[in-house]
Amino acid sequence: MKNIEKEPLTLALPKGRLTEQVKELFEENGMGFSFENRKLVAHDKQGLLKIYLVKNSDLPTYINHGIAGLGVCGDDVLFEAGYPFYKLKTFSFGGTAMCIAGHKGDVLEYTDKELKIASKFTNFTRDYFSKMGIPVEVIKLNGSVELAPVLGLTRYIVDLVETGNTLKANNLEVIEKLADINVHLIANPAYYKIHYKRINEMVDRIKDGGKDE
Ligand code: PRP
Repeated sequence: MKNIEKEPLTLALPKGRLTEQVKELFEENGMGFSFENRKLVAHDKQGLLKIYLVKNSDLPTYINHGIAGLGVCGDDVLFEAGYPFYKLKTFSFGGTAMCIAGHKGDVLEYTDKELKIASKFTNFTRDYFSKMGIPVEVIKLNGSVELAPVLGLTRYIVDLVETGNTLKANNLEVIEKLADINVHLIANPAYYKIHYKRINEMVDRIKDGGKDE
């Protein structure tokens, strides 16, 4: 029979910039790892972790199915997925803001018509404006959302803003910040209940001056 206490903990990381930041942090805390030759599975040097490199928006699916017990994920992706994961830690990096934006100088104009908004974050957008009692028509895009007002698809967009450079370069600007977005270490609740001791030890090792330290 497999001794699950000896198996490494499983962790899913999103492809891209966040993984580079996690990699640096884990290296500083003695859990360095690297993905060799386009491999999508890696182990940390101490054999504590088995790490999977997945597409950002697929990460909650892997955690929900228990394929990876842990993951690094932003509030934006968590909100869209809607699964009841545990948030074990908030990292000091990766913070952005979810904003509604439009052409420079534009304002939110409420008429008897629905606000037409393009976004990758359709659940967030619908939920936010429905709580405000504002009717919206949300058009789903998968990327380069800033093009929507530029090309006249919609007057407004809801998108992540980090430096604001993409908006500025396209003559757009933030009309209103809707929410702070942070990056968390998350866990599948059932996985956490089985492995909580080892997981808590691992979380304690990660010192990055994050919001919960
Ligand atoms: C994100 C986001 C904005 C941009 C904001 O897009 O959706 O487009 O970054 O960053 P900034 O405020 O620093 O300019 P991403 O790079 O993930 O690409 P995408 O538009 O193809 O989704």
